[in-house]
Amino acid sequence: MSIFHTKSVEQSIEDSEESEHRLRRNLSALDLIVFGVGVVVGTGIFVLTGEVAKDTAGPAVALSFVIAGVVCGLAALCYAEFASTVPVAGSAYTFSYATIGEFPAWIVGWDLMLELALGAAVVAVGWSGYFSELLGSLGIKLPPTLAGEDATVNIPAIVIVLLLTAVLVAGIKLSARVNLVVVTIKVAVILLVIVAGLFFVKGANYQPFIPPAKATEAVGGLQAPLIQSLFGFTPTAFGVMGVFAGAAIVFFAFIGFDVVATAAEETRRPQRDLPIGIIGSLAVCTVLYVAVSLVVVGMQRYDRLSSSAPLAAAFSALGQNWLATVISIGALAGLTTVVMILMLGQSRIFFAMSRDNLLPRGLAAVHPKFGTPYRITIIIGVVTALLAGFIPLSALAELVNIGTLFAFILVSIGVVILRRTRPDLPRAFRTPLVPLVPALAVLASLYLMLNLPVETWLRFLVWMAIGVALYFLYGRRHSRVDSGEPATPAR
Ligand code: ALA
Repeated sequence: MSIFHTKSVEQSIEDSEESEHRLRRNLSALDLIVFGVGVVVGTGIFVLTGEVAKDTAGPAVALSFVIAGVVCGLAALCYAEFASTVPVAGSAYTFSYATIGEFPAWIVGWDLMLELALGAAVVAVGWSGYFSELLGSLGIKLPPTLAGEDATVNIPAIVIVLLLTAVLVAGIKLSARVNLVVVTIKVAVILLVIVAGLFFVKGANYQPFIPPAKATEAVGGLQAPLIQSLFGFTPTAFGVMGVFAGAAIVFFAFIGFDVVATAAEETRRPQRDLPIGIIGSLAVCTVLYVAVSLVVVGMQRYDRLSSSAPLAAAFSALGQNWLATVISIGALAGLTTVVMILMLGQSRIFFAMSRDNLLPRGLAAVHPKFGTPYRITIIIGVVTALLAGFIPLSALAELVNIGTLFAFILVSIGVVILRRTRPDLPRAFRTPLVPLVPALAVLASLYLMLNLPVETWLRFLVWMAIGVALYFLYGRRHSRVDSGEPATPAR
C-alpha cells in the first residue's frame, strides 16, 4: 500500500470508541477555554516580550504580537473545522492521516514532539529560573549548578515535571481543576500588570515606535532570519523586518491553542465545544498580549527592559517591589500549567499513534481507574524531565515554533483536501472562505517560518530526517491501517 494511504474519518472515530482505549468525557466548552488559556499564557508573555522588544522589534513588539495573533487566527479557523469534523485525540496527526496520508501523518506526529515535549521542557527550565529567583527573594539561595538556565542538573525543573506527570495520570478532571485555579491567578496577574502599569506609562518611551533597522551581533551568521540570508540582505534587527522577525519569535506565546484539539475525546460535546475552545482561548490571549506588551514598553524604554523577567523588572525599576513579587508568583503559577498541558497534548498524540500501531500498541492502554493513558503519560514525563534536567534548552525555543508552524500548514492543507474528498461529512464548524483562508494560513505560517534563524531550520531538517528514517524502520512495518488488522486489545 502507498505511504500516502489515508485512514477514514469513520474508522478514526470508531477506534476512539474501543472500550479498552476509551478516555473519559468530562470537559465542557468553558473547561476548554480555561485549558487553552492555561497552556497558552506562559514564557511568551512573561519572558519573550522583553527580549524581543530589546533585541528585535523595539516598542513595536506589540505589532509583532498582532501579526503572530493574526497568523494563529487563520490557523485556528482551520483547526476549528477539523476538530469539529474529526473529534479524535490525535489532533493534527489524526487529521493528516484522514486527509493527506499515513506518511505525512507520521511526520506530523513526530514534528509535534517539538511543539509539545520539547516545548514542555523549555518552559520547565523557565519555571526553574523563576522559582530560584523567588526563593532568592526569600533569602534561600539555590546553587546555580542545581537550578536555573545554566544548571548542570536542573533539580526544580525535574521535580515540577514529575509532579505534573502524577497529576496527569490521576485524571483529566483533576488536571482541569488544578488548571482552573492557576489560570485564575495568572489572568489576574496579567490584568494587574495592565491596570497598574497604565499609571506608569510615559509617551516618550514609544518614540521611536519602530526603531531604525541596524545590523547587530544578535542577528549575525546562523542567527540571521532565513529570509534575510536567502535574499542576501545584511541581517538587521529592528525596522519593519525586525517587527516580522519579532513576530516569528513571539509566536511562541500563542502556542497551545491548538492543543485544545487534542482533548477531543475528553470533551462532552466535541463538535460544538472544540471550535469555541480553540477560537475562544486564542481571542482571550491575543487581547491580553497586545495590551500587556503596549503597557510594558510604555513603562520602560525598550533598550532597558529585562530579557529574563521583563514584567516584574519593569515594576521593580519604578520602585514597586511588591508588585514585582506578585507578578513573579503569577508567572511561576502560569508556567506550571503550560508545562502540564503541553505534556497532556503530547500524551494524547502518542496515544492516537500507538492505537494505530505506528508506536508500540501496548502504550495506548488506558488506566482502569483513572481513565487516562497512563503508560504514555509516564514515559513522556520521564523523557521531558530528563530533557529539562540535563540539556541547556534556551537555544531550542525557536525549534518549538518551527515545529508548530509546520503542523499548522499541514492542517490547513488538510481542511481543503477533506472538503473535496468528503464533502458529505457533517461539519459543525466550517472555516469561512475556503480555500482562501486555508491558503492564507499556509502562506502566513510559511512566512513566519522563513523569519526564523538559519540554525533553527538546520536543526528542524535534522529532526525531520530522523523522523523519516524511523517511519521506514518502524511505523510503516507495523501500521494497523495498512495491514487491515482488526483492533486487538492492548495489554
Ligand atoms: N505559549 C506558551 C508559552 O508562552 C508555550 O509559554
